[in-house]
Amino acid sequence: MAEIGKDILKAKALLEDGQLVAIPTETVYGLAGNAYNLDAVANIFATKNRPAFDPLIVHTYSLDQVKNLVTEIPEKAAILAEHYWPGPLTMLLKRKSIIPDLVTSGLDTVAVRIPNKEITLELLRSLDFPLVAPSANPFGYISPTSAQHVEDQLGSKIPYILDGGESNVGIESTIIGFENDEITIHRLGGVSVDEIEALVGKVKVKTHSSSNPLAPGMLENHYSPLTPILLGDIESNIEDHSGKKIGILSFSVDFGQQTQKILAPDGKMTTAAKNLFAYLRWLDRQPLDLILAELVPEEGLGLAINDRLKRAAAKKTTH
Ligand code: TXA
Ligand code: MG
Repeated sequence: MAEIGKDILKAKALLEDGQLVAIPTETVYGLAGNAYNLDAVANIFATKNRPAFDPLIVHTYSLDQVKNLVTEIPEKAAILAEHYWPGPLTMLLKRKSIIPDLVTSGLDTVAVRIPNKEITLELLRSLDFPLVAPSANPFGYISPTSAQHVEDQLGSKIPYILDGGESNVGIESTIIGFENDEITIHRLGGVSVDEIEALVGKVKVKTHSSSNPLAPGMLENHYSPLTPILLGDIESNIEDHSGKKIGILSFSVDFGQQTQKILAPDGKMTTAAKNLFAYLRWLDRQPLDLILAELVPEEGLGLAINDRLKRAAAKKTTH
């Protein structure tokens, strides 16, 4: 199994050697490799079982570093960078040729972000290359929000997991793109639509859900546990499925069931986001026929949480 620890020098040495290291971020843990090393990048796709049409996010530690990777930073991007970097926001920007095609799946934009996790920023500052890092889970499964989650699934495939404790945002970064002067949100995430609009005005929300997405990666069946999830009114679904071994994932109501997780006992959306993936994993480990879940209020981070719940519940086309 992979070693879990807080040794930045060890992580640095492995990455410099072209190996992969799982890194903590405030959103979810990433499976990191040298963005300029084609073998390392290819190894990320192989380790996750990820199709090559699904490009990777490049992580770095400062806006100056981002400028080495992209040809221009639109005005609105600069405003958002100032407010949300380091933080759970990924921007699609025109790439320089220094970024390998494999990283962007041949697209002319590169996804970049500065994660808000001190141990990882320190690691990034110590390296003379940026890190590509998709979420550190097998493709299609629930993203990891702790070192142990990574160990559970990828532990046999990687040498080291840098431990930064639990990810306190808990859902992936918001991904935005720029066309002319317009902003499009391609993935809902840790920065809400409202927060973005408050800074730069109206944006379009265009999250994809086809099996051949234009902005790849937004597959309908994603973030999925192995146990089927039924989304809807929990109370009536409990009655309809009385013969089955069911688990419950509610927003804030206690349904008095044994196998139950309440996303936000305090009613806060940030608490629900932080708990979402850990609770889905926990429920998936229980011997259940079915997980009954409900959508959360459609406000703030609730939009991103509901996006993940719907994808987790979507029928699997392969498996
Ligand atoms: O919070 C996060 O963003 C985490 C942490 C580790 O930083 N990373 C993450 O990476 O969620 P991943 O690979 O699981 O998701 C990245 C998404 C994919 O859906 C991919 O298709 C999209 O970003 N993406 C990357 N580059 C893109 C590009 N140039 N154009 C459109 N979409 C892109
Ligand atoms: Mg992912």
